[in-house]
Amino acid sequence: MALLGAVILVLFLNVVLAQTNGHSTSRALEGDQVLRLHPGTPDAVAMLDSLVYMPGFQLDFWKPPSHVNQSVDVHVPRDNLPAVLDLLQQHSIPYHTMIGNVRQAVEKHMQDNHKARARTAGRPARVNDFDFSVYHEWNEIDDFITDVQQTYPQIASLSSEAATFEGRSIKTLKLGKPSTSGETKPAIWIDAAIHCREWISTATVLYAIDQFTRQYGSDPTVTRLLDELDWYFTPVFNIDGYIYTWAAPENRLWRKNRSAQPGPCVGVDLNRNWDDHFAETGASPDPCSIIYHGMAPFSEPETRGISDFVLNHPEIKVYLAMHSYSQLWISPWGYDYARPPHYHLQNAMALAAESASRAVHGVQYRVGRSIEILYAVSGGARDWAYDKAGVTYSYTVELRDTGRYGFLLPADQIIPTAEETFPAYLTWASGSWIIPMIIHSFIISYM
Ligand SMILES: *[C@@H]1O[C@H](CO)[C@@H](O)[C@H](O)[C@H]1NC(C)=O
Ligand SMILES: *[C@@H]1O[C@H](CO)[C@@H](O)[C@H](O)[C@H]1NC(C)=O
Ligand SMILES: [Zn+2]
Repeated sequence: MALLGAVILVLFLNVVLAQTNGHSTSRALEGDQVLRLHPGTPDAVAMLDSLVYMPGFQLDFWKPPSHVNQSVDVHVPRDNLPAVLDLLQQHSIPYHTMIGNVRQAVEKHMQDNHKARARTAGRPARVNDFDFSVYHEWNEIDDFITDVQQTYPQIASLSSEAATFEGRSIKTLKLGKPSTSGETKPAIWIDAAIHCREWISTATVLYAIDQFTRQYGSDPTVTRLLDELDWYFTPVFNIDGYIYTWAAPENRLWRKNRSAQPGPCVGVDLNRNWDDHFAETGASPDPCSIIYHGMAPFSEPETRGISDFVLNHPEIKVYLAMHSYSQLWISPWGYDYARPPHYHLQNAMALAAESASRAVHGVQYRVGRSIEILYAVSGGARDWAYDKAGVTYSYTVELRDTGRYGFLLPADQIIPTAEETFPAYLTWASGSWIIPMIIHSFIISYM
């Protein structure tokens, strides 16, 4: 009964939204708010969930509904605020305002970063002159990783595994000492910014690249890690989208790629476009939705190219997809409550990585399976890598913060976030994971 009421209200709300869309004469994002909601009953969760999938709906769930008593963050356009607040009241869903004016928050975030960048303005993006404490545009990142390759040719190589919709090359930097025996080394894949507004993910990967290359030959752990393993870093997966988020304040919160779609809307959520339980849950068939899964699995050149690369490199044993925000180390699956066959191994390594991370600044991340600690989702990279590419240690990592700034994390949190993430990468050096991995491959190959 309550749910039926919710659906009727939602339909009503949808009409209100349809009428107000496009009527606004104010600047984009002006007066928009980000609300944190606290659904305390299954009905409340179901009602919010129905808003996620409402076709043509303009609400951007920064943190979608999942479980009772798990908070939900949602960006509500100014014109929709009265209707949304009404709905929350009718369903007795408590909330508070996280960001009172999204436009102001975006402008402050971008201006602060711009001011901080002024310190190094005009300097070329070179290995010894790169400012890791600010966010960088794609062309600077491109220059930096190119210079890393040229500065450390004995351990670094650069390749492009895919092109974007707008024709840019997705650059992957490989670090590792070439094996003298010619044997293929186990490898670790780390990518960032498949969701382009999650700038902190890229910034932490650049920092890690710098630490690895700088400490190679002096720090014994880092040296061993690059001697024994190969590391593939893709600092910006969704380059078109990333460039778009830099172009104007109203673009800053874009999530999808920039591909043309049927109808008025642009882009596919590249983390719903993978060929694994495609379109089952936590993804939308509506091209205007922020979680639109695309026309078909791997319809997008970005996901197609990267997935081919991973399939062609069975030595990849660890797949880390860096995202923000919420502070989570998330293991498979997103589409099933069952524990995957390698749950214990996956969980043990995530706990080890989290504790290495927490030791740096005392900042806690939660560890768990996607469906349990995040929300139901399918067609994502993490579950694809595990299910289809056989990568046992496959994770999504949600970096800082827990919502105070959300995607607009101030630049002064880049270094602390990167500092706590780097030792998490180093936990793969412990060696303990290599043994179960080898046993597992042995069992699989002889079964
Ligand atoms: C949710 O929180 C409320 C209030 O704290 C509590 O009474 C209720 O039992 C909780 N429900 C669940 C499923 O955790
Ligand atoms: C984005 O998604 C569209 C939608 O299908 C796809 O065709 C395109 O290749 C993708 N491009 C980029 C840059 O992501
Ligand atoms: Zn993300």
